[in-house]
Formats: sequence, structure tokens, C-alpha cells
Amino acid sequence: MQKRTFTMIKPDAFSKGNSGAILQQIEKAGFRIVAIKKTWLSAEKAGEFYAVHKERPFYGELVEFMSSGPIIAAILEGDNAVESFRKLIGATDPAKAAEGTIRKLYAESVGKNAVHGSDSDENAKIEGNFFFSGLEQW
Ligand code: RTP
Ligand code: MG
Repeated sequence: MQKRTFTMIKPDAFSKGNSGAILQQIEKAGFRIVAIKKTWLSAEKAGEFYAVHKERPFYGELVEFMSSGPIIAAILEGDNAVESFRKLIGATDPAKAAEGTIRKLYAESVGKNAVHGSDSDENAKIEGNFFFSGLEQW
């Protein structure tokens, strides 16, 4: 089991001032922040990040939203990081997310859903390297 995952606090949560509360929930759940930064993706970069969804009907909307304002990108460390973090954030659609999950608490809709969490060890590494260079190991 890999120890690291990658997350973003998306523009909806950042603009509402929910970044601090979300990071606190992440830390209280036992994750350690390995690397963190505030940034603002261009449409080109957002499109590149979500390229796996290029053929999906929501791709244009997703790229527009993810480049609409600042985000926070972070690499997290914790036990069984990818899976346990996906559990902490909850289902993609906040209406289906479990009580107490980050998306249940802070997401507005399936599109504007507050946070990203990597879906596999392989993607966590790719996504972490997309935002941070010089990391010693995964
Ligand atoms: P994420 O990658 O952001 O952590 O989200 P996820 O794995 O739970 O969901 P995924 O299927 O990877 O979708 C990526 C993001 O695309 C947006 N989306 N919109 N309008 C829609 O039907 C729709 N479906 C997905 C969401 O922002 C989702 O998080
Ligand atoms: Mg995903």
C-alpha cells in the first residue's frame, strides 16, 4: 500500500474560504502534508490535468471551472493514502456522499465538488509530479 496521494482544493471551496477548514479535517483524519501550494491553473493546464476525461460530455465545463479561480494543490501522506482519502472526501456527487465527508460538507454540485482526490497509486504519482518537482520518492 502506497503512503501518498494527491489532492486539490477546487476553486469553489477556495473562493468560499473553506480551505482552512478542509485542511484541518484532512490533518485531523491523520494525513500529513508533504507539499502544498496555492496556484491558479490556466485552461490549458486544467485540460492537461483532466485529459483522461477528454471524451466525456462534462470535460469543457470541468476545464472552465478548474481554471476559474485559485486552487490549493497538495501531496498527502497517510496509511493506504489513496483509498482512505477517497473515503474522507466522499462520492463525486455530494448528494450521494456519506455524512461527514468533505464533499457532503462543502461541495455544491457534482461539478463544483470542493476537492479532488487521486484514484490510484499510479495517478497519485503522476498528479503529484504535475504540480511539484524534486520529490525524493513515492
Ligand atoms: P476527482 O477526479 O476530481 O477527484 O473526482 P472523482 O474522481 O470523484 O470523479 P471523476 O469521475 O474523476 O470526475 C472528475 C471531475 O469531473 C467533474 N464531473 N462533472 N457534470 C458531471 O456529470 C460531472 N461528472 C464529473 C467533477 O468535478 C469530478 O470531480
Ligand atoms: Mg477522478
